[in-house]
Amino acid sequence: MSDNQAQEFALTRLFGLEGKTALVTGGSSGLGLHMAKGLLQNGVKVMIASRNQEKCAAALGELSPFGEVFVQAANVTDASSRERLVAAVEDRFGDLDILVNNAGANWGAALADYPDAGFAKVMDTNLNSVFALTRDLIPALTRAAKADAPARIINIGSMDGIHVPIVQRVPTFAYSASKAALHHLTKALAVELGASHITANAIAPGFFESRMTDHVFENYLKDIKDDCPLHRVGRPEEIVGILIYLASRAGAYTNGTVIPVDGGTSISKGKRDWTL
Ligand SMILES: NC(=O)c1ccc[n+]([C@@H]2O[C@H](COP(=O)([O-])OP(=O)(O)OC[C@H]3O[C@@H](n4cnc5c(N)ncnc54)[C@H](OP(=O)(O)O)[C@@H]3O)[C@@H](O)[C@H]2O)c1
Repeated sequence: MSDNQAQEFALTRLFGLEGKTALVTGGSSGLGLHMAKGLLQNGVKVMIASRNQEKCAAALGELSPFGEVFVQAANVTDASSRERLVAAVEDRFGDLDILVNNAGANWGAALADYPDAGFAKVMDTNLNSVFALTRDLIPALTRAAKADAPARIINIGSMDGIHVPIVQRVPTFAYSASKAALHHLTKALAVELGASHITANAIAPGFFESRMTDHVFENYLKDIKDDCPLHRVGRPEEIVGILIYLASRAGAYTNGTVIPVDGGTSISKGKRDWTL
């Protein structure tokens, strides 16, 4: 038996990512920062992008000890900013193995007061910009793509794109609509790009601690836990793990899926009394 056969299902062969390149939008905080760190710790060269220069600089300081990381201040909703981001990716990496569309925004307001501008901002950030950036990075992804090692598009959706969120008390109409549309866009991209050896999948997280969830964690943590069959929120390794799977050799045949990572919240029906 050859060494290759003996090691066929070893973890490094299944999940190893050494030498790949990745762009993580919104990589300066929250889930994006965890995912950037997880990729770096597994030998991936990573570029992160977000709007705020100070947050970018702080993230660069935090991530640098873990590997080769680059930062590009960019607003994904702005066409010229996106153009500079695509150019930066092409300058630094040439090819792009893994695109993580993670930047996201939310807006909560009662129906009667829900502003057009808030709705548009959320759709622009969570949906329109994902489409535009992905389209513009297809050449870099195509250069990296191989029949037995496809390039990957990994969109960060939400369990709120699967069910209608109620726990926040403040309705988030645009957010759940944008994430449901992002899930569907993911499937459309998977069908379109399969022949080019590029896969597209979405991760649909439940509640994880981040700047976006500060307010709801502060006010509704008990409700959040009560709604979750596992009676807790998510942990960073639970997002990083699924990302690594989707980016890896083991995940190469997974295409067009939306994978909930929510402790079962999106399939459970409201609250129950907990005796844990
Ligand atoms: N945390 C959760 O429980 C949870 C649950 C389900 C889904 N998600 C999704 O996970 C993703 C990350 O959210 P998070 O919870 O980690 O929140 P977060 O800490 O607020 O992170 C959002 C990131 O996106 C960046 N960003 C926002 N608008 C941007 C824009 N126009 N251009 C470029 N970057 C932009 C932010 O940086 P700047 O402010 O510097 O631009 C920040 O780095 C989002 O798509 C969110 O919908 C989160």
